Order: sequence, then structure tokens, then C-alpha cells
Amino acid sequence: MRRGLAFIMILMLLLGLSGCAGKQEPAGDSTSIVVGFSQLGAESSWRIANTASMEQAAKEAGYGLMMENANQKQEKQIDAIRSFIAYRVDVIVFSPIVETGWDNVLTEAKQAGIPVILMDRMIETQDDSLYTAYIGADFYAEGRRAGEYLVRKADATGAEHLNIVEICGTTDSTPMRDRQRGFMDVIGADPRFTVIASISGDFLRSKGEECMTDLLARFGADGIDVLYSHNDSMTLGALDVMEKAGVRPGRDILVISVDGEAEAVRALKDGRINCIVQCTPALGGSVMALVQGLVNNRSIPRVSHPVEAVFSDFDDLTDPALEGF
Ligand code: AHR
Repeated sequence: MRRGLAFIMILMLLLGLSGCAGKQEPAGDSTSIVVGFSQLGAESSWRIANTASMEQAAKEAGYGLMMENANQKQEKQIDAIRSFIAYRVDVIVFSPIVETGWDNVLTEAKQAGIPVILMDRMIETQDDSLYTAYIGADFYAEGRRAGEYLVRKADATGAEHLNIVEICGTTDSTPMRDRQRGFMDVIGADPRFTVIASISGDFLRSKGEECMTDLLARFGADGIDVLYSHNDSMTLGALDVMEKAGVRPGRDILVISVDGEAEAVRALKDGRINCIVQCTPALGGSVMALVQGLVNNRSIPRVSHPVEAVFSDFDDLTDPALEGF
């Protein structure tokens, strides 16, 4: 994606500025560098594209990648990090499934002198020294963008009151918490909007289907004006259920989603989704740039966010750059 590439270039520039500006450094002895990567699962197209991005970028950088997929289990992520410590990898990268419960294992990594990069999701800790850097989306900004789209749509259509249902991502994960908080900070005080239900779909398409079935049974199609879903996989599941029930998504129910996977982008172009807040999975190149900074003993940015956009029915959707992943 062009935006992903732009982000990588900006990050490379930042790394250069924060360290030895103007000098081209070697990648260290890249053949002997090993990155331990704990991926949290394969719950969505986003996650699958993110894993592929990490594998590709490690290959291009010439780094060995020890990857463990935790299949949505925090215990498995903790075990994977312990195995990376035992192997004495050079850098640990991990995408924490939830925010809490990492202090012990990260203390062990710190005591072993192995730097940790958090990729995609944050942790909650009193001890900021347990990780060196975070790289991933600004989920709070994404939630705000979803809310801002809704306000703009309500203004444009003159809607007086809208009932919103929210299908959330994994409980206590960073994107779930921050996409909800950002959205509510924009629409919460506006009397035109009421969130009538907020339920967890765990970022899974199958659970998106289950959630929408439940929501239609509880409120009926006439009782729901807006679906705000925290990712495209759940949204696509919800769309299937709506259509089977004779409801026209995008028309009878306004649909706001997050990510930008190809199938969802097609649904946006077909008018079945009204708005997609972009969340890019193409983080691998930027992660490897941070690893390179660490192995060359340069200072690296503590927090990096990719540049992300919003695509909606207010835009020209024929833009060929809008293809999804
Ligand atoms: O943490 C990023 C989120 O996780 C993506 O939006 C979602 O699709 C994924 O499962």
C-alpha cells in the first residue's frame, strides 16, 4: 500500500534523525540477528496480513524470525516470550492480546538484557522500562474518526435521533478499549445518538454473525439505525446476517467499520458499508527498522503510529489506491 510505504519512509527518516543523521549504517551482522516474534493469533484478515508483513520484512532485512502464534491465548504468548529468552534472541517483538498481565515475563526479558518492542497493541504497566518501543495504530484516533464520520453523516441527512449498536473487539485489548473510548468521546454528549447495545465479537467473523443475530432478535431491524463494528471481519459476518434477514446494510442500517480488508472495501464500493476507518497491518518494515536501530545501538522512537485515513460514502470510491489487503 502506498500509505504503508510512506509510513516506513517517515520512520526511517526519524530513526536517522534521532541517531547519526546523514550516515548510512550497516544493518549490523544481519545474518546472526534473531528476532523472537509472538503473534497473538489469526483471528482476522488484518492479523494474517500483519503476520505476512512481518515475515516478508524480516526476510528482506536478513534477520532470522522465530515466530510463535498464540492462537488467542495469553498463556501461549507468555510461554513464547520465555522460550525467546531461553534462546537469547536479540530482540523480542510481540503483539499483546490484552493489556494486563505481562509484568513478570517482561521483567524476565529485561533481566536477560533483551529489548522488547510492542507491535500493534499496548500493555498496561506501572513500569515503563519493561518495553523499549511501541509501534502500531493510534486506536483512540481511529475511534474518534468513526465518531466524526457519524456526526458528519447525521448532519448531512438531518437525522434527529439514531440508535447505535456496537460490536466490539477482544475485551480489554487496546483496539477494543481505545476504539470505544474515541468513538464515545465524539458522540457521547450529542443527544442525537444513543448506544443501545455494546457486545463483544472478539474480532472474529463468526462472532460478528452471532452478535448481529442477537442484536436483530433483541431490537429488530427497525430498532437499529447504526452498526459500529471494531473490525471488518466482524462487520462482514454481520452483513451476511443482515442480508439473510432481508435488511439492506448501508441503507437500512448505517455501517461503520475499521481496518480496510479487500472484501470490506468491495462492500464499501457496493454501498453495503458506509465508512471504513483504516488500520494498516503493514507494520513489518517499520518494525525491522526499529530492530536495526536497536542492534546498531541507536536511540529509537518510543512511540510510532502509521498514517491512516478514512474511506466513506462522502469520498470518490473509484480511487485505485483504495484496494484493501
Ligand atoms: O489490533 C488490531 C486489530 O486486531 C485489527 O483491527 C483487527 O482486525 C485485529 O484482529
